[in-house]
Amino acid sequence: MTRNISPSILSADFTNIREQIDAVQNAGATRLHIDVMDGHFVPNLTFGPFIIKQIRELTNIHFETHLMIENPDQYLQKYIDAGSDTVIFHYEASTDISRDINIIKKNNVLAGIAINPDTDPNLLKPYINQIDYILVMSVFPGFGGQSFILDTLETMKRLVELKEDREILIGVDGGVNLKTIAEVYRTGIDIVIVGSGLYKADSINDRFRDLMNVS
Ligand code: DX5
Ligand code: ZN
Repeated sequence: MTRNISPSILSADFTNIREQIDAVQNAGATRLHIDVMDGHFVPNLTFGPFIIKQIRELTNIHFETHLMIENPDQYLQKYIDAGSDTVIFHYEASTDISRDINIIKKNNVLAGIAINPDTDPNLLKPYINQIDYILVMSVFPGFGGQSFILDTLETMKRLVELKEDREILIGVDGGVNLKTIAEVYRTGIDIVIVGSGLYKADSINDRFRDLMNVS
């Protein structure tokens, strides 16, 4: 598998966001993970389309927007228009999964579904031919810097089996750092989201390289 780290800007220093994005791009990142929280689906609030649109002005890097919001169908278009390249909504938050995938795909944006650590990955089977991306939460969403939930490694392996040779990316999000990343790579998933384990390092460049090269 090709290793691919998607930095989560949730842990970035927003007083210096241009430099913080440049730092991960210079280190080799080709995508950026953007965590949107609504204070309902998760007990925390972050930012919305207004901020994403402004960050879009700074870079052409692939934006994967992770919506931790209730009733995603009401807001998908706003996040698409803000410049997302992939839009990911939560299985647990959607009232009609196929409808929500279609809203995204008709805009020529890649569609992803995120599942919480206690959601059965087999529930995604009916949608497997419609989606471009599956995000496995390895913490309960809401905050950066939480501990990796080891049981979710089985979910990742199951989804790698389930996708067979389809062109679906599988990402993992939460608690991935120098200690946990080797196990994550071994599951065969495609994208590893890292927030605090990258942005809180003394050198973002060195940490990115170390995370890529862990054996
Ligand atoms: C959790 C967020 C994650 C988080 C990852 O609700 O979805 O993307 O930023 O951060 P770390 O790597 O610090 O767990
Ligand atoms: Zn996320």
